[in-house]
Amino acid sequence: MSKNFYITTPIYYPSGKPHMGHAYSSIIADIFARFKRIEGYNVLFLTGTDEHGQKIQKEAEKNKKDPQIFCDELSSTFKSLTKTLNLSNDDFIRTTESRHFKSVNEIWNRLVKSGDIYLDKYSGWYSVSDEAFYDDDEIEDKDGKKISRLSGSSVEWVEENSYFFKLSAWQDKLLEYYKKNKDFILPLSRRNEVVSFVEKGLKDLSISRTSFSWGIPVPTNNDHVIYVWLDALTNYISALNFPDTNDRKFRNFWPADVHIIGKDILRFHAIYWPAFLFAAELPLPKRIFGHGWILSDEKKMSKSLGNILDPIQIITKYGVDQLRYYLVKEVSLGNDGSISMENLKNCINNDLANNYGNLCQRVFSFVKKNCNNKIPKANNLKEVDLKLIGNIKSSVPSLINLINKQDLNSYLKMIVSFSFEANKYFNDSEPWTYKMRDPERMNTILYTIIEQIKNISILLNPIIPNSTQTVLETLNISQDKFSIENVLKDNIFNHNQELKNLDILFKKIENDN
Ligand code: ME8
Ligand code: MG
Repeated sequence: MSKNFYITTPIYYPSGKPHMGHAYSSIIADIFARFKRIEGYNVLFLTGTDEHGQKIQKEAEKNKKDPQIFCDELSSTFKSLTKTLNLSNDDFIRTTESRHFKSVNEIWNRLVKSGDIYLDKYSGWYSVSDEAFYDDDEIEDKDGKKISRLSGSSVEWVEENSYFFKLSAWQDKLLEYYKKNKDFILPLSRRNEVVSFVEKGLKDLSISRTSFSWGIPVPTNNDHVIYVWLDALTNYISALNFPDTNDRKFRNFWPADVHIIGKDILRFHAIYWPAFLFAAELPLPKRIFGHGWILSDEKKMSKSLGNILDPIQIITKYGVDQLRYYLVKEVSLGNDGSISMENLKNCINNDLANNYGNLCQRVFSFVKKNCNNKIPKANNLKEVDLKLIGNIKSSVPSLINLINKQDLNSYLKMIVSFSFEANKYFNDSEPWTYKMRDPERMNTILYTIIEQIKNISILLNPIIPNSTQTVLETLNISQDKFSIENVLKDNIFNHNQELKNLDILFKKIENDN
């Protein structure tokens, strides 16, 4: 059995600077990618930018730039964000790359071949900002303007010649697929939303535009550019060298294990994309996970409210692990969640500085003072010691399960409780009292607590990669040993080597900071 795992983020519109919402999706996907790697999987983690369509063309015009140059500039800010967020992505795809053109052309041709495309005229509502068509009953009036009830974006009336995709023909097959594959769309609330939308009946989908030119031309009719969502969704296989379906990448990684997306783009991923794939006779991704909305102080982030939290600013001030940890801790994955600077600071102080950070710091300095700075060997492990270590090891299957369900919050909660337990163990066992009367007992306690620090650090590694790496390297455990297998294994330490020096792991944030 090959152990391959393919995970993606949405490819973002480079129509403006990246913000916290983009950072959130990417960090979440990165955590799963990193976990599967330490679980032993061969992982492909893809992110990138979605560069065609009317929205980008308009934005480029507004900035008096050629759209390609405009995209080059903004796409590079998204690419550099992957570094700032410490993402472990294996690839970064841009839809203006030639590998992607080839792939979209082939998809189009396959849809033609299957008889799913016909030429007609579209008339209806369109939102440039969502790049989405809306039905009459999805439109409402606001301040004399027409907006989408779903997204709140303004819409315009469009009438133009257009190729259509026979989406309606796939309705039954989609419903059957949702029914057979209960966890194809997660969380369940999103699945239900999709099912009831499809049950109400699907209309055919306009898949080309003629009123602007910034896109991939329809192969047989260059007056049309391909609808940006058909173009964009295909990125997930372009990166696998589709149309070369014999390519190793395609064979190993398609179908994708999970597409991480925000709930705003659920319809595209859970209805259109599967239907396109059915028509193209390609397998469907195994899961679409639609997370919720990040709110700032209970409100949607917006420039006019002045409540936009800039990921780069926060990282510069507090650190990347701090932001990653906070987002996972604070926002229940799948639901909307509010974040605030106040809670960020409390979280850094309580969870990181006082709990995990303090545990490492006090144990390592104790070892430095009392054990020649080397990890002592255990002698007779008592029941309390065995229980502490055993707890975490026996939880490994459940932890893997939680990750496989994208239940990141329960995962983190378990690790945090192990860390509390470890701190309590250290306090209660009072190793300092054994220094003279029973050094062997002292050594056993220290060994036990360090074993636990190792395990907690490996399990936290996907969430806070930098600081856990520092801790593990302090223990002379190199990166190739960060694995779930080594959580299960006892005593992977070198007892003759001195511990490295550990600087402050997480600086406490004072109130006026
Ligand atoms: O929709 N909270 O790109 P996009 C949480 N190009 N996540 C948020 C968020 C928020 N407040 N705001 C944005 C597109 N996101 C298309 C995708 S995929 C084939 C094409 C995240 O730049 C969330 O993942 O508008 C959302 O789905 C995505 O950014 C939308 O990014
Ligand atoms: Mg958007």
